[in-house]
Amino acid sequence: MSRLVVVSNRVAPIQEGEATAGGLAAGVLDALKQKGGLWFGWSGEVTATSEPTPEHTVGPITLFTINLSRQDYDQFYRGFANGTLWPALHYQIGLGRFEWPEFEGYRRVNDLFARALTPLVRPDDLVWVHDYHLLCLADSLRANGLRNRIGLFLHTPFPAPGVFMTIPSHAALIKAMCAYDLLGFQTEQDRTAFLDYVTRHAGGSADGLADGTVTIDGRVVRTGVYPIGVHVEEVRSQAETPINRRQATRMRANLMERLIISVDRLDYSKGLPQRFAAFERFLADYPAQHGLVTFMQIAPPSRSDIETYQRIRRELEAEAGRINGRFAEVDWVPLRYLNRSFARNVLMPLYAEAQACLVTPLRDGMNLVAKEFAAAQDPEEPGVLILSEFAGAARELDAALLVNPYDERGMAQAMDRALSMPVEERQDRHQAMLAVMRRNSLERWRDRFVADLQAG
Ligand code: ADP
Ligand code: G6P
Repeated sequence: MSRLVVVSNRVAPIQEGEATAGGLAAGVLDALKQKGGLWFGWSGEVTATSEPTPEHTVGPITLFTINLSRQDYDQFYRGFANGTLWPALHYQIGLGRFEWPEFEGYRRVNDLFARALTPLVRPDDLVWVHDYHLLCLADSLRANGLRNRIGLFLHTPFPAPGVFMTIPSHAALIKAMCAYDLLGFQTEQDRTAFLDYVTRHAGGSADGLADGTVTIDGRVVRTGVYPIGVHVEEVRSQAETPINRRQATRMRANLMERLIISVDRLDYSKGLPQRFAAFERFLADYPAQHGLVTFMQIAPPSRSDIETYQRIRRELEAEAGRINGRFAEVDWVPLRYLNRSFARNVLMPLYAEAQACLVTPLRDGMNLVAKEFAAAQDPEEPGVLILSEFAGAARELDAALLVNPYDERGMAQAMDRALSMPVEERQDRHQAMLAVMRRNSLERWRDRFVADLQAG
């Protein structure tokens, strides 16, 4: 068995019960806990120069991290990765910016990661790279002479070629991505969009090759679809642990009879303003629910030194205040807006307490909150998942109430329907979701990707 070398920009804090905002960190940590290996990434620190920190070992995982200089952080992380790529990958081109020096900074940090990583890699290691920060890493590693098998899993969507091409350096990015042996996507739609770009705009050819494989510049690149999942049974047992459950019940005693919950990083891709507007519409259209329903939005701040994130935070604060000002009564506050993280042993029981969960991103690679919510439910009395058709999770969880996050009225109707849905229908939908999630578990995601990378 080859050793696994995992590379991601964000490295999770490795402590039990630690709240991790972000699906990548949760998935990678789990894969490494099971298999052991080396995890390489950014330390989260910005220092005078970009330099490695001392390695340390936690259980079967050895961690190597690297600090970033202010310039690297600004150009790579704030600039190209999160100011250009993230909005484009999520179809939010109006929110993107592009500066060539930032793209050069992105390439420079990919080179920096490669320089620090190369001496740590043994000849038969499998190198599994994660996400949009490191699209050029295989190219940089190959330039250093590394001949190992190197795969990339993209946790975000891959957009339609016309959207990707709004990034002026799109051709260089795709060329660099083709230095990977295996490219993994969350959904078939993402993979097809990538193959479309490569065959129509980058001279790639899929002729005579196995499904999903392309040749480009003489290299054969394999692509695959690996929907990331959750540990269904573990989530459920966290959700019903008595002590946690007690805490959740106490919290609920302070809420009203019906709880609608949402949990997201505070990110413009998550569709929060549209969701608030839909909840306002629901309050306006269904006055019988007044005094009965509470909508709790949990949204820990994310990437808060980026302008677009600051703007959405201000907008949501204003909207939450305005909606409560319009509808609240002396003894009822309809919207609770919390800007903080919660440990999983608090979050999962809260999911189980809720009658409905709104997961309505404008675009999302997968969305693990949707899967966690469904997995946390009591099979006898399950809550209802209201899910955006633009989340990767909607491809698998089509038994949820699917909505268009741009359709305010449609979402308000879905809230009403969720709160009045008969128990048999809730159970049927929940069973269907459980069956898919058990099949596409987190273990399966990891094992299939690693097996395909190994197989070549
Ligand atoms: P993204 O990766 O874009 O943040 P996902 O929904 O795929 O979106 O993953 C989010 C992960 O972060 C989930 O595992 C979720 O439980 C966790 N998370 C999100 N918000 C919070 C929070 N407030 N407290 C604790 N965990 C959170
Ligand atoms: C999403 C991305 C991850 C990222 C996480 C948190 O899950 O796919 O790559 O790590 O958000 O964002 P941050 O910028 O704090 O790492």
